[in-house]
Amino acid sequence: MSEKQTKAEHRGIPVTEEFRRYIASGWAPRKEDTTPRASVADYTERRRQALSEAFPGERLVVPAGGLKVRSNDCDYLFRPHSAFAHLTGLGADREPDAVLVLEPAEGGGHESVLYFRPASGRDTDEFFADSRYGEFWVGPRPTLASTQVELGITTRDLSQFETEVGKDVGTVQVRVVRDADVVVTAQVDTVRATVCQDEGVAEQAHQEAVTADQELARFLSTLRLCKDDWEAEQMRQACAATARAFEAVVAEFPEAVRRGRGERWIEGTFNRTARHEGNGVGYESICAAADHANTLHWVRNTGDVRPGDLVLLDAGIEMDSLFTADITRTLPVDGRFTAAQRQVYDAVFAAQSAGIAAVRPGAKFKDVHAAAIRVIAEHLYAWGMLPDGVDVEHALDPQRGAWHRRWMVHGTSHHLGLDVHDCALALREDYMDADLRPGMVLTVEPGLYFKEDDLLVPEDWRGIGVRIEDDVMVTEDGCELLSHHLPRSAEDVEAWMATVLPHS
Ligand code: GLY
Ligand code: MN
Repeated sequence: MSEKQTKAEHRGIPVTEEFRRYIASGWAPRKEDTTPRASVADYTERRRQALSEAFPGERLVVPAGGLKVRSNDCDYLFRPHSAFAHLTGLGADREPDAVLVLEPAEGGGHESVLYFRPASGRDTDEFFADSRYGEFWVGPRPTLASTQVELGITTRDLSQFETEVGKDVGTVQVRVVRDADVVVTAQVDTVRATVCQDEGVAEQAHQEAVTADQELARFLSTLRLCKDDWEAEQMRQACAATARAFEAVVAEFPEAVRRGRGERWIEGTFNRTARHEGNGVGYESICAAADHANTLHWVRNTGDVRPGDLVLLDAGIEMDSLFTADITRTLPVDGRFTAAQRQVYDAVFAAQSAGIAAVRPGAKFKDVHAAAIRVIAEHLYAWGMLPDGVDVEHALDPQRGAWHRRWMVHGTSHHLGLDVHDCALALREDYMDADLRPGMVLTVEPGLYFKEDDLLVPEDWRGIGVRIEDDVMVTEDGCELLSHHLPRSAEDVEAWMATVLPHS
């Protein structure tokens, strides 16, 4: 027989009425709220307008998400769902449990309403006794009035959401971004289910509602393909901050070698700059020395860094707005490439340069990969690494072997923005097969990965893995290299490292 485990009451402290009155008293008046309108507010208004036009007359529910338990009563740092951040402009850790609703307005269009937990009174138990939400524990929360001014969105107390979301259900179609908050999704499913009493039909109605919800999520993901001016500036800032973090890492290379477990030292150094300059890292940093670089998403970062190693650092800083960079450099820890490392590096550099040159409006997203992978295949062919009888055209023919992919199994590019792999729900026709348009931001990140135990690789190249990754924005006539602060070619990398590595 299973029994539900309930938490033992082992640390509570009884609260008397006398104490309640005491702790609620003796505070200075709250400071006057002078929050200005955020610069993003004009842009989010346009984003919500586009959403409103796509779903006329419907109630659209976009939750921020809730706090997630890390262990017992400790939560992970909160990060709002990207669709919510995009439509409200709220970033960093704002606001757990909040819900944006686009409410169909009489006469057309929508009114945007943000429901959240506003600052609680000092006369509540929450104020001093609630370790998740209380001011004594997590600091003061904004008021409804200040957030309304800041975002230019009508604000309401979260306690009203449940009633409001079910209003007129049956007359008004309701959609929800399902993966943001299980509690809100369940609330929406419950109110929608009240319309349909017949059980047989109810299941079908639920499936139709889920499909409708998925259309909403896809629209919101696709809406982020082209960045507006405000987003473009955030991406520039994220790349600039990330470049500074790369520089901080290089300055610490000798320490990483000296201390052992140097990959963790690199990770920590990057993290420190990320937390200092922005919200944190946009994804788990890949800090891979030597053969670890051949594990594409090596985030364990437990390895040593030894003299003579290449270090592959794939990392990005996420700003408080939650826009993130995604940059990779493969750097010789001593500041100079060996001859073998240089040969592999130069091939990847040539491939990346071809990929970047292919980024312009009207080209297709997939053309960038085609340009880069051709150069990879050409090098492998010239090095005699493709099977006998296989030339470059043969290898590149998608209907045939694609042998070159043994050494670069990943694609060259992905969209980048609020999510490191942004716009993930967009259809293939809007993503891979689509024309590039001004404002799109993508990575260009070819690599070559020669595993230590790969017997098809020349012996002195085994254990060398190289990826070079930059972030580019499509412009009217080409692209802007957002991550231009960091050197790309081997010569420029060596020259830069000579200025950054501490002199012994
Ligand atoms: N930066 C990791 C990736 O693009 O998958
Ligand atoms: Mn990437």
